[in-house]
This record gives sequence, C-alpha cells and structure tokens, in this order.
Amino acid sequence: ERGSQYSPTVTAEGWPKIVILTGAGISAESGLKTFRDNNGLWEEHSVHDVATPEAFARNPELVYRFYNQRRAQLQSDAVKPNAAHIALAQLESVLPGQVLVITQNVDDLHERAGSKNVLHMHGELLSARCCHSQRRFSMKNQFDGDSRCECCTPSQKIRPDIVWFGEMPFYMQEIERSVQEADVFISIGTSGNVYPAAGLVQIANEYGAHTVELNLEPSQGNNDFLETYYGLASDVVPNYIKHYIKGN
Ligand code: APR
Repeated sequence: ERGSQYSPTVTAEGWPKIVILTGAGISAESGLKTFRDNNGLWEEHSVHDVATPEAFARNPELVYRFYNQRRAQLQSDAVKPNAAHIALAQLESVLPGQVLVITQNVDDLHERAGSKNVLHMHGELLSARCCHSQRRFSMKNQFDGDSRCECCTPSQKIRPDIVWFGEMPFYMQEIERSVQEADVFISIGTSGNVYPAAGLVQIANEYGAHTVELNLEPSQGNNDFLETYYGLASDVVPNYIKHYIKGN
C-alpha cells in the first residue's frame, strides 16, 4: 500500500523545520527529461494525449506507452541519484525528523539517494492505482492490456499512479501545514509553472519562513524568494546544503 495511511510529516520532533520542494530539474542530471526545457517531455507529447483522465479514457494504450517508456528509463542502470539528491538525503540524516522533501517528480531518486521523508504530490511512476478504490500499490513491471487489480471490472483498466492535469495533487493538507510550520523553504529544479506547487513559496513567505530558490535559471516565482542561487543542481544544492551539514 502506498500513500493511503502514509503520514510522514509530523515526527517526534514536531513539524519539519526545513521543507524542500523539488521539480524535474533536480533529476535532469540523472538523465531524466524535464517538461518545459528544450526537447522536454511536453515538446514530444501533448499533455492532452498522455496526461489527463480524458486521455486515459480515450486511448489507454497510448497513455500506457508514455508511462511504460518513462518507467523503463527510470529502471535502467544509467539512471541514478545525482549529487543534489544525495545532499538532501545527507541533510535529513544529520537533522533527523527535521527535513521534509515534497517532490513534484514521479521518479524514486530521492528514496534511492536515502531520503526517507518524501511526499510525491504528483504520484509515482513505480506504482499503480485502482480506478475504483484509488488504492495505490507498488508496480514495477510494464502496464499492458491485461493490467488489472482484483477489484477492477473487466471494462476498467488499472491506471498509472500519476496525478494528471485537472486532478488534485496528493497530501495537499499535510503539505500546506508543513510549509506553514517550516523555518526554511527551499525550492529546487522547478519552473514554478504548475499550481498548487508553485504557490507554496507564497505560503512560506506569509508564515515567515526563510525562502530559497536553487535552480538552473530564475523560475516564474523567483521574485518570491529571499535567497536565490542559479546553476546546475548538482553544484548549487550540495553547496547550499553544506551550511547545514557543516554546522552539525
Ligand atoms: N539543475 C537545476 N535546475 C535545472 C536543471 C539542472 N540541471 N535542468 C533544468 N532545470 C530547471 C529548469 O530551469 C526549469 O526551471 O528545472 C526546471 C524544470 O521545469 P519544468 O520542466 O517545468 O518541470 P517542473 O517545474 O518540475 O514541472 C512541474 O509540471 O508537467 C507538470 O506534473 C508535471 O511535475 C511536473 C510539473
């Protein structure tokens, strides 16, 4: 089971002090395409064909192909966590219970780097979801025409466990509360195009957190951040995180 009873944010130490939002840019140097950069995923595929509930109802095989291709790539040996994922996992290990990673990414690179407290607000490539019960469960092999779970009626298909456009992200209550409680809010590798993720920095500012943007280039919301550092995530993230690691 994934996601249903999962409540990772409130630990013995209370709400995490450092809340980190990540986007596709943190996984770019691991070889996974981003969405809106040159030759990004949305240049090759129309969102309306592969990333909406209507697309899945209209042509599930095409949607399966899109996610099967991304699942296969993620499971290839070539794709590994990079120095940015590893720095975030180190931060969590020196500040147990104090760090939460909220990711828009559907890859498992944060977990593979060692991060424990991770919320996938847009779902996960390596799990599937029942169309009826919304039950989510780990599924590593490819979707195919016979992909079913026990409660799906023959006409219904099991769906990729991805939050599609027009659907509500997961964990939004916990996410908003943890941003309100945070002392520091760090945004990494996201263009700030998609809400509600792009609006979290406003909540952080409203509740007095110190806000930091670490990205290749200024995002849509770059003016909302108190501190910004631009460059490759594998450089700027370890560089920024080391202030916290050195002090411990
Ligand atoms: N290091 C740091 N930042 C990078 C790197 C890198 N190596 N490469 C790209 N970036 C930055 C880009 O400058 C851009 O600002 O990462 C960001 C990627 O932006 P998008 O492609 O829009 O990805 P993201 O912000 O995660 O998209 C959010 O949109 O399509 C939906 O659900 C999908 O979760 C996704 C959401």
